[in-house]
Amino acid sequence: MPAWDPDLLPDLNGRTYVVTGANAGLGYFASEQLVRAGAHVVMTGRNPLRVAAARAAVHRRVPGAADRGAVDTLLLDTSNLGSVRAAAATLRGRKRLDGLLLNAGIVHPPAHRQTTADGNELVYATNVLGHFALAGELLLPLAAGLGRMVWLGSMSTSLTPYDPVDPQLVDGYTPWRAYVQSKVATTALGLEAARRLGAAGVPVSSIVAHPGFSIGGRTAGVAGVNEPTSAKRFTDSLLTPIAQSKARGAWAPVRALTDPAARGGDVYGPRFVVKGEPKRVHPSRITRDRDVAERLWQDAEQTTQVKWRLDKAARPSLRRWWFSRR
Ligand SMILES: NC(=O)c1ccc[n+]([C@@H]2O[C@H](COP(=O)([O-])OP(=O)(O)OC[C@H]3O[C@@H](n4cnc5c(N)ncnc54)[C@H](OP(=O)(O)O)[C@@H]3O)[C@@H](O)[C@H]2O)c1
Repeated sequence: MPAWDPDLLPDLNGRTYVVTGANAGLGYFASEQLVRAGAHVVMTGRNPLRVAAARAAVHRRVPGAADRGAVDTLLLDTSNLGSVRAAAATLRGRKRLDGLLLNAGIVHPPAHRQTTADGNELVYATNVLGHFALAGELLLPLAAGLGRMVWLGSMSTSLTPYDPVDPQLVDGYTPWRAYVQSKVATTALGLEAARRLGAAGVPVSSIVAHPGFSIGGRTAGVAGVNEPTSAKRFTDSLLTPIAQSKARGAWAPVRALTDPAARGGDVYGPRFVVKGEPKRVHPSRITRDRDVAERLWQDAEQTTQVKWRLDKAARPSLRRWWFSRR
């Protein structure tokens, strides 16, 4: 028996979670696990057909989900700051949010440096900047829900702890460096957010989770969501001793979102680093460096032009106002 299991989650009826990159991988399985426990989930993604297929899969696989309208979908491309702003404006129409899973990510970066329409390096924009902006834009509904934001880190930040002095990798781009730097940044920003939210008295917890090594070829087939070829199934099966399914990989972020004992600044990851039940773990040294986090925060603020309204989110009158609308 695993020590933690999403089938034993508390009843999440009445709670609303937003998940980025919800049409595949960890984002899909996290959404499914939350819905299974009774939550309402806004599944977001950049492609309307893929997001619709993911919603249909949850409806098929979770009894009663379609009848109770457990899933909404929303277009959100985290690499595009305009898309982030538009999605945030829609989401702010909700009275409150209980959790935000900042999951979307490029895990196989392009061989050569690419930039977005906003002029930012693609991996940094997708994995980091879009999420920094989204979390900042949703601070008020999260505060109203006494909610949580969960950032996706990675064990790669221990393997090659790059200091992101040049977060946009204007010089020295490699796909691996772009990926690891982005995960150093999401973890450091998640921990820095916890410090800032706590210091300002904002009733929102910022938590980091990493899924170990989670692969599609070790994951149950889900039509429209996870359909690995038999060649991928075969090669991924060779990794069985050091890898787990994406459904299992979703356990750490789902625990971070829902465990009543989780606190701001906590980091969750698999028990055996690459796989296993989620538990509280130690983040890598580079992600705990306050100077690195401060530098990244300033860069993210400047680049996205999003300043977190900590004073407003902490104001008791605002909290009372949100609660009066419940
Ligand atoms: N799997 C692992 O072993 C592992 C390890 C450490 C950390 N992580 C982290 O966990 C998260 C999820 O990884 P995964 O393994 O589930 O990856 P995945 O299976 O490749 O899924 C990535 C998801 O992100 C979405 N996405 C990519 N670019 C996007 C954009 N610009 N806007 C919106 N959504 C976008 C993808 O949507 P499309 O289908 O439209 O591309 C997809 O839904 C990532 O942040 C990753 O860094 C994963």
